[in-house]
Amino acid sequence: MKKLRLALILIFICIFGIYFFHNSFAADSTVAKEKGGKITASDKKSSSHPTTEISMTCSECHEVDYDAKSTATRMWINNYKQMTRDEIWKKIADFLPYRQRFVMATVGGSWWNPYPTATTADFTLVPDEHIIICSNEKGTEKLAQLKKNPYVSLVHFEGSIEGPNPPEKRWWKSVQIFGKATMFDSDAKEFEELSKKYVFYRVQSDRAKKRMVMTKIDIERVIYFDSSLMKEGYSPYQLWENPNFKK
Ligand code: HEC
Repeated sequence: MKKLRLALILIFICIFGIYFFHNSFAADSTVAKEKGGKITASDKKSSSHPTTEISMTCSECHEVDYDAKSTATRMWINNYKQMTRDEIWKKIADFLPYRQRFVMATVGGSWWNPYPTATTADFTLVPDEHIIICSNEKGTEKLAQLKKNPYVSLVHFEGSIEGPNPPEKRWWKSVQIFGKATMFDSDAKEFEELSKKYVFYRVQSDRAKKRMVMTKIDIERVIYFDSSLMKEGYSPYQLWENPNFKK
């Protein structure tokens, strides 16, 4: 009989324990609700949305479903202040004077080589034409890939680097360009024209030209990032799109 009573008491303690445990979790989930529910990355804040600081990202308060199209960057672009197209383009052009070094990714898409290729190359932006130009040596992997798939993504960036001593000022600027490449070798009439706009700093011999290809990239869109824009009340990500781009 004593044993039975002891067992009953133990069972009671267990039930109580579970009850308490459950309640403390339930309390947690009401906190989560106050934080804001689950949203997708294409959602926009309504005008009645609680006020948030510009430096806060949506995912600090919401569980966000991201996919390749609705990205964290898109979320900034959709929800925070954008500059006008012309203002953004001017920022881009100011950030890329003369010639700048980019990392460009190409995807050739062979079944035996699924890798994208990232390479560095110097590019000159032609602001009036919304194109960016580079000169390449014939026969590189990059050119072989571009012949199969002319679509590219390229990035130029500058900013402070975190080291053993923190930088005096933290800042970060970058442009990510999406576009379509067309290549011209020295026989094509566009070659001369493009090489004038590219502005070679050394005279190119005819022999050198024979080894070269001028690559023109028509720009479809640019994501301009500037960490200092937040202070002016703008989204740090600014999207510029070219309405005249032909796929
Ligand atoms: C500081 C926390 C916080 C941040 C940051 C935040 N939200 Fe919210 N959000 C909330 C809360 C709390 C609610 C619920 C408001 C309510 O029910 O009245 C909410 C509700 C929403 C809703 C539901 C409808 C509405 O507008 O009330 C959407 C959509 C939404 N947020 C989108 C976003 C997006 C997009 C971002 C980022 C750009 C974002 N939120 C950033 C706290 C946040």
